[in-house]
Amino acid sequence: MSTIDAYRRKYAYGEDYGTSDFKFGPITLGETPDIIENRGYIPDTSSIMYKLMGATRKVVVGPEIPLYLEAREDLAERMIYPMRNGIVDLNDTKAWEVIYEITKYGLLKYKPKERDFKGFYVTAAISIIAPKYMYEKLFEIHERINEEYGLVRAVTIIPQPLAVAIAQKKTTCVVLESGHGNTQISPISMYPIRRAIVTLNRGGSDANYITAEILRDLGYGDLVQEEKLVRMFKEAVGLVPADLNKAIEFGKREKEKLRTVFKVPGTRIEIDMGDQGWMRFLIGEYVFNPNHEIYESYWKRGMPRPRDVKIGDRIFYGMMDMAEAVIEAVQRTPIELQPYLYREIILSGGNFAWKVPQGLEGVAVDAATKMRIMMKEKGIENVSVSLTKDPQYSVWRGCIVYSVAVPDDYTWNWERMEGWMIFTKE
Ligand SMILES: Nc1ncnc2c1ncn2[C@@H]1O[C@H](COP(=O)(O)OP(=O)(O)OP(=O)(O)O)[C@@H](O)[C@H]1O
Ligand SMILES: [Mg+2]
Repeated sequence: MSTIDAYRRKYAYGEDYGTSDFKFGPITLGETPDIIENRGYIPDTSSIMYKLMGATRKVVVGPEIPLYLEAREDLAERMIYPMRNGIVDLNDTKAWEVIYEITKYGLLKYKPKERDFKGFYVTAAISIIAPKYMYEKLFEIHERINEEYGLVRAVTIIPQPLAVAIAQKKTTCVVLESGHGNTQISPISMYPIRRAIVTLNRGGSDANYITAEILRDLGYGDLVQEEKLVRMFKEAVGLVPADLNKAIEFGKREKEKLRTVFKVPGTRIEIDMGDQGWMRFLIGEYVFNPNHEIYESYWKRGMPRPRDVKIGDRIFYGMMDMAEAVIEAVQRTPIELQPYLYREIILSGGNFAWKVPQGLEGVAVDAATKMRIMMKEKGIENVSVSLTKDPQYSVWRGCIVYSVAVPDDYTWNWERMEGWMIFTKE
């Protein structure tokens, strides 16, 4: 092994730009990346308090944000969420400034003290549908951070589903990456087959909507303004039913088994679901298939319905169920390849991290089991579905593997969209 390979291994660094969370950090973190929300806050620098404190930061990111929050009315204006469906608009300068800040935050936080450090080998992962300008902008941002702080020796950018395949060491597979805003379904045969990709306009945020409605029904309507709380409650109590009708029946019959009391961490608030525990199944089902008639009444009273949206020349389907989406994607690949793809379906992303509590096995299932059941219902039996370990982090892990594996002399090529963009020479 050459010394440069050893250096790259030592200073491999990964970045996963998610719509809601930015996952980042060096190889030394092991299995779990660091994580901050993908957002920035622009404080009102004209305020007297701000001047008294001598603060100068224009965009605040990371765990300090809550300390800067001012009156609630202008929160929406000052809090910048830079991505929609994994994309930053080209001319949204504030959004790009936030991306610069979160990127810098991560790299500075993990700046090594070793003498031999001359910058990380950074692999950044972005949405498979990200346009070319996002690659250009991200290269610029890393170059700028390197000029300012000497933190980046080389950077490369890969699509998130490819990162997942790499982390799982699979060359032929279908990757479902389901995050907060949407779901990308990518058949991969050595490289993502772009014309076969199917995208859904459905992700964890939709599960939050139905969770908010359930909280209203339970009499906790005053809490639903706090998206964070809704999300915590969803992650704690949401369940994926093997079969929604049967699960609801079960839940109404075995009320005690579904009963749960959720304590909001750090507060005195308790949310008691009482006899309504069966509603927990509505949350998980919605992610996989929102077509059950029971959801009609929620839309009627104003819950946002997952809609088809067109982004660039691509449609993000609102209502297509997950199994249908996989079949749709696989059918766009060569017939000979199709059986191999069905045999390796990989689920990744936080929106697949549903748990099965003790005592509810069989009625509630994990995401992989749910997919298997749904595929079977559509007549596709010879499938193998696996859920990545800690699905929220698999993209980041793939980034680290990629940083370690791609040799230095493989430099960035705009045609292939692969290789290292190298900033500093020894
Ligand atoms: N245990 C869990 N059960 C259910 N949902 C979960 C769980 N853990 C995380 N999530 C959900 O996963 C989503 C975040 O996933 P992830 O970090 O993969 O998204 P992202 O990368 O920020 O977004 P995207 O991939 O859409 O750009 C959130 O909606 C979160 O509530
Ligand atoms: Mg993601």
